[in-house]
Amino acid sequence: MAGTAFLEESVADRQVPRWSELKELLRVQPMELNPTERRLAKAVTIADLRTIAKRRTPRAVFDYTDGAAEQEISLRRARDLYDSLEMRPSVLRDVSALDPSVEVLGRRSAWPFAFAPTGFTRMMQHEGEPAVARVAEQTGIPYALSTLGTSTIEEVAAAAPDGRNWFQLYVWRDRGAAEDLMQRAKDSGFEALILTVDVPVAGARHRDTRNGLAIPPALTLRTIADGARHPHWWLNLLTTRPLTFASLQSSGGTVAEMIDRLFDPSMTIADLDWLRGHWDGPLVVKGIQTVEDAARVAETGADAIVVSNHGGRQLDRAPVPLRLLPDVVDKVGDRTEVWLDTGVMRGSDIVAAHALGARLVLVGRAYLYGLMAGGERGVQRAAQLLTDEVRRTMALLGAATVADLGPQHVKLP
Ligand SMILES: Cc1cc2nc3c(=O)[nH]c(=O)nc-3n(C[C@H](O)[C@H](O)[C@H](O)COP(=O)(O)O)c2cc1C
Repeated sequence: MAGTAFLEESVADRQVPRWSELKELLRVQPMELNPTERRLAKAVTIADLRTIAKRRTPRAVFDYTDGAAEQEISLRRARDLYDSLEMRPSVLRDVSALDPSVEVLGRRSAWPFAFAPTGFTRMMQHEGEPAVARVAEQTGIPYALSTLGTSTIEEVAAAAPDGRNWFQLYVWRDRGAAEDLMQRAKDSGFEALILTVDVPVAGARHRDTRNGLAIPPALTLRTIADGARHPHWWLNLLTTRPLTFASLQSSGGTVAEMIDRLFDPSMTIADLDWLRGHWDGPLVVKGIQTVEDAARVAETGADAIVVSNHGGRQLDRAPVPLRLLPDVVDKVGDRTEVWLDTGVMRGSDIVAAHALGARLVLVGRAYLYGLMAGGERGVQRAAQLLTDEVRRTMALLGAATVADLGPQHVKLP
């Protein structure tokens, strides 16, 4: 019965390990000595970067970034919709040569997303806007500097001279100041102007009120105690250029007080003509939340509109941008580019938005979590996670190009 002896052996029989076999399994990992790199390498999702950011940043600063308005329902609903949609793959498609680029404002962009304008970026981490602009340039995506930025237009242009730099404008009571900023953006080679229209007054960010957030952060007993828990953040704040708004004179106070003092709540659609008189490049209008407004703004000849509720930071219980998107694309998609933001935490969210008709997706918090987790390297890590996820999701859906994505790939609940 020698021929059937092997039948009596079982894969579960025990044996003494042999060195030749053990050797195969041994992997000596090179030790990462840089603590930032070590920290970032552990983040495999944007949510992981958020967890690291929370640990490394004073609570008021983290909450300013992470939080939204009032009960934060707008943001929660936006995220819930991304979580609950269903992705439907097309199989047996050739995805061996994947092209995730998109055409935006008449030029090719390497990836289907861009970094949204965010104010006070140097408060989150001292490297701030120039770090974000450099990563955008390296990744081949656009970056929008905010009117409430903590670095100047000229600093961003110098940090990313070959980047697609855009400038986000809020319209102030003092129109002359806005005109001056547009001129500086033009002189610095900025490509496009984004006018944000969903801030007639400041949203009520309750976390900021509860935390007593002031800009720049005030040294109170509470913040001094926090210094012991976040010494790096405080050291960076106190040993780099003072944290100020680069584009405006601020007399301090809370964010809401400052916005209400400076911004012009009387602005109407007629003011787009005034804007056109001072900006001859591409014009994008951000903060569209109804089909009717999309049509009104498209009528004025805007080059793109952003369906957005400002990351849930303004009106609470606002329309969920992703839900609104197909109707807006249907109505004005042949006249203007339709972009989208709010609640994007994964590359697969970006892909889903493109499947439903978005031309470009803006991400805000996703890169800020990276910045707080590890400065410029953290923003790089965020970009890498998003681009890997975009590529993988496109392949899994059977879409070799962004144009191959369509409503057949995503079912909204
Ligand atoms: C901390 C923070 C600051 C922001 N500041 C601005 C701003 O100054 N101007 C603006 O138009 N939008 C601002 N936004 C909104 C973003 O441009 C974008 O609409 C929003 O972040 C998208 O949602 P997401 O963060 O979920 O990606 C800010 C968002 C955050 C999180």
